[in-house]
Amino acid sequence: MCGIVGYFGPSQNSVEIVLEGLKRLEYRGYDSAGVSFIDEHNELQNYKKAGKLDNLKEELKGKNLIARTCIGHTRWATHGGVTDENAHPHHNDILSIIHNGIIENANELKKELMSQGVKFKSETDSESFLELVSFELRNGKPILEAISDSFRRIHGNSAFVVLYPKTGEIFAIKRGAPLVCGINEITSEALVSSDPYALAGIVHKLYFPEDEVIVHLSGGNKNLVNFYELDLTKTTRYLSKKQDMTVTVSEKGEYEHFMLKEIHEQPELIRNLTQYYFAGEGRETLERIGHFSPKRIYISACGTAAYAGLVVRDFLEGINRIPTNVELASEFRYRNPILSEGDFGIFVSQSGETADTLAAQSLCKKSGIKTLSIVNVDGSTLFRECDDNLLIRAGVEIGVASTKAFTQQALTGRLMSAAFAGDLKDENKKVALSGKFALLAERIDKLLAASDSIKTVAEAIYNYKGFFYTGRGAYFPIALEGALKLKEIAYVHAEGYASGELKHGPIALIDEEMVNIALVAPDLFEKTVSNIQEIKARKGVIVSVGPRGNQELQALSDYYIPLDFDGLEELAPLYVNVVNQLLAYYMAKFKGTDIDKPRNLAKSVTVE
Ligand code: M6R
Repeated sequence: MCGIVGYFGPSQNSVEIVLEGLKRLEYRGYDSAGVSFIDEHNELQNYKKAGKLDNLKEELKGKNLIARTCIGHTRWATHGGVTDENAHPHHNDILSIIHNGIIENANELKKELMSQGVKFKSETDSESFLELVSFELRNGKPILEAISDSFRRIHGNSAFVVLYPKTGEIFAIKRGAPLVCGINEITSEALVSSDPYALAGIVHKLYFPEDEVIVHLSGGNKNLVNFYELDLTKTTRYLSKKQDMTVTVSEKGEYEHFMLKEIHEQPELIRNLTQYYFAGEGRETLERIGHFSPKRIYISACGTAAYAGLVVRDFLEGINRIPTNVELASEFRYRNPILSEGDFGIFVSQSGETADTLAAQSLCKKSGIKTLSIVNVDGSTLFRECDDNLLIRAGVEIGVASTKAFTQQALTGRLMSAAFAGDLKDENKKVALSGKFALLAERIDKLLAASDSIKTVAEAIYNYKGFFYTGRGAYFPIALEGALKLKEIAYVHAEGYASGELKHGPIALIDEEMVNIALVAPDLFEKTVSNIQEIKARKGVIVSVGPRGNQELQALSDYYIPLDFDGLEELAPLYVNVVNQLLAYYMAKFKGTDIDKPRNLAKSVTVE
């Protein structure tokens, strides 16, 4: 969704630094971009363009970009169409602002300001904050007070960055939206962003302010950053972390797309995860989590993370026998769930910034139950809000379609299940589990090496009308995830279905234009095969993903993707999932879509 980057420091290249930060945030999804900066004559300059960042860069060509202070934004439209006027920053003669989130009472504020003679240039809710702060400034309030008083009047979750041309300073504040700032004490630079990834390699120290803390960037001064409460007293309500300067910006390298690269990273990440939790820094966390004894678990998440939650549920119920519900985070708080003592809330997320997942966590926290995240981004809002956290260690995931995060979420959930069961205290059980992880990594390696055969199947089927992904038991979540992947990046209709449910309605859709990607595990083999027969009888095209060397399955299928299931046991669904990732990737490639940044999607959904 929207991206924020602000720079205050001695470099005269602040515009370039901000543009580079925005480029790194492109993966989050956006539809317009803009920058505001104070030029060498102390004048505020403002440029913004609908469309890709390249449009903005084109607009900036030939302009004098020497500036020490700059703020920039990539917008994902909510209020008002995708136009130059609606792009951020929004500015007037005394201020420029950028905004992520939604101002729920914007109409009311606009009406009030218009009655005072204020004129609005855009259709956005964001401009109401610009004019509110400006109104206070014009009435003589100092900048900090003007920001604080205006922010108190804003309803909804938002993050704002304010550039004050009079002093050239930058201020930021947020409620329920991501915001991070970072400093480099050697170069005296201070930056602010919606995502630490934009600051990688520039700053040594990161600060994650809590809600309603005003951040004041004053690069070049003794304190590069200062924090204030809304009553303007100094505060320490922030989390500070050393930034790992070895965190580099992810490059595609030899791969055509980030998605393909991320699919290929999975075996190594699985090995690293085992190492981290069995022999590295993560051991202590897992031991601590092993002391929890939940009576009932609620897992809440969105999209792919919710499907990973279903896989984790099967571990927790199958292995630990702990009753576990998986809840779509966007629905959870609207159905008045019964949360009681001994319940445990687990929140699965790649970004740790998904608005609905955060709201579900907040509901659990308020009801007094313990909360735990299974999350990728260390220091994210979800990470900070939960009582404890299990990092999935997937590294930066750039592809909007989540791949490696799913695998790591499910496997981290498996480690959590082992911790709950006390298995990590038993050396034999530990060795057995790490052996399974190693075997999974090895099988995925082999599958990736033979991915041309999957590409051939993708080429044969990518133009069909629709796709049913079917699976039973532990493969049902994999069917759901497979269909989601295809929809997201190939823009074709696909549905994940429990194999046995098809004849209760959707079978009416089967004809020679429909493909069934049938996930056929060795367990439940016969039952799944009879479901395939039903589709075959109605002329559906069968792509079976099943045990190698099975002639019956091969004969029944139009296309057959053989796999080696033996020894993988409960981890086998994650192996099958990689077939689905590759199928979706290659089908999208044959269709020629924008695989890493599919239309209409944002990497991190920070609004409800
Ligand atoms: O960052 P999160 O894991 O919380 O994001 C949740 C979903 O928005 C995300 O998984 C989405 O469904 C992906 N685009 C799926 O590929």
